[in-house]
Amino acid sequence: MKKAIRYLVNDKNLIWFGENAFSHLKTFIAKGDYSSIFFVVDENTHDLCLPYLLQSLGDLPRCEVLEVEAGEDTKSPEVLVQLWMVMSELQADRHSLVINLGGGVITDLGGFLAGTYMRGLPFVNIPTSLLAMVDASNGGKNGINLAHYKNRIGLFQNPEAVCVIPDFLETLPEEEVRSGFAEMLKHGLIADAEYWKELIEFDIAEEVPTEEMIRKSIAIKQEVIDKDFREAGPRKVLNFGHTIGHAIESLSLETDSPLLHGEAIALGMITETHLSQKYAALSDPEAEEIRSVFEEIYQDVSFLAKAEDLMEVIQGDKKNRGDELRFTLITQIGNGVVDVPVSKEDIIEALKLTKILA
Ligand SMILES: NC(=O)c1ccc[n+]([C@@H]2O[C@H](COP(=O)([O-])OP(=O)(O)OC[C@H]3O[C@@H](n4cnc5c(N)ncnc54)[C@H](O)[C@@H]3O)[C@@H](O)[C@H]2O)c1
Ligand SMILES: [Zn+2]
Repeated sequence: MKKAIRYLVNDKNLIWFGENAFSHLKTFIAKGDYSSIFFVVDENTHDLCLPYLLQSLGDLPRCEVLEVEAGEDTKSPEVLVQLWMVMSELQADRHSLVINLGGGVITDLGGFLAGTYMRGLPFVNIPTSLLAMVDASNGGKNGINLAHYKNRIGLFQNPEAVCVIPDFLETLPEEEVRSGFAEMLKHGLIADAEYWKELIEFDIAEEVPTEEMIRKSIAIKQEVIDKDFREAGPRKVLNFGHTIGHAIESLSLETDSPLLHGEAIALGMITETHLSQKYAALSDPEAEEIRSVFEEIYQDVSFLAKAEDLMEVIQGDKKNRGDELRFTLITQIGNGVVDVPVSKEDIIEALKLTKILA
């Protein structure tokens, strides 16, 4: 991974940062001659982010606001059907633009909505959570959950543009900031040891990551995606922590105290660090370092589940091939490897070590 940061990414996917983002977006909207704009928001971004956005954009074509409930449950087929119906009733047409303003739930759901309505409308992502800025809003994956399978239904489609405006983070609750930070740590672990060092010296309990750090995470993700948009191979490196993490997240969503995405992924990365020692020759000192970083930052995050429940979800994971369970692991800090077959027994052993098994 090059240290130089590449920001303006592939030719299909423009990412605009900070204050400039608004002027770029205004020009983009004016040039597009859209019949209408559909803003997809949740109840929080409706109140906290939409007024600022509308004020910054000034005159617009006809605007409609589609507001959904906040939370992961919203990424469902039922909500999607309702949104299709409302768009249809409000006469969204092929000249409409969809603007997704929110966290990863909104960019995933809104991207899928835009990508499927009338065989695809153009959309712009304006991420408002840290997790969506560094991860969910870029890369062209859009999806919804099916029962307890995360992101089971989805499509690959890039937004026309992504506007990353760190000012939005001012109202983001602390635990959500920490959740997004897990994906940033993942970027360091899979691709850039120096960035990992920078991140672990940062006090996430006290500060919000800088625009510079957000840019670095996006650049790492983009560099991977430029090589493999449809996840035939190398892109899977971004899944570190996610095979176990998604299983934990799915089961936790069925409880009264669901974990945030980044919290579940943090537990996933601790568990998959154990597997990396066994299967990818990750050294003991580096494994210790990784676990102690996560255990410190996410010390109050825990989850207990039965091995058979977790294994059922893990076995249904998209990343597997047939019966073989395959993981993205790390060989050292800063280097991920994909498609490593791992035995069921060792997964259970690693889950035990992470104290996840009830
Ligand atoms: N498509 C991808 O490549 C990709 C990558 C990573 C994660 N994801 C998905 O992203 C989702 C998680 O994203 P998330 O953590 O952003 O969740 P989220 O969208 O639920 O946002 C978290 C919470 O923060 C609130 N919020 C958002 N911005 C705010 C702001 N500026 N001020 C105050 N509150 C604000 C939201 O209303 C919500 O309550 C998961 O569904 C995950 O699967 C997708
Ligand atoms: Zn993730």
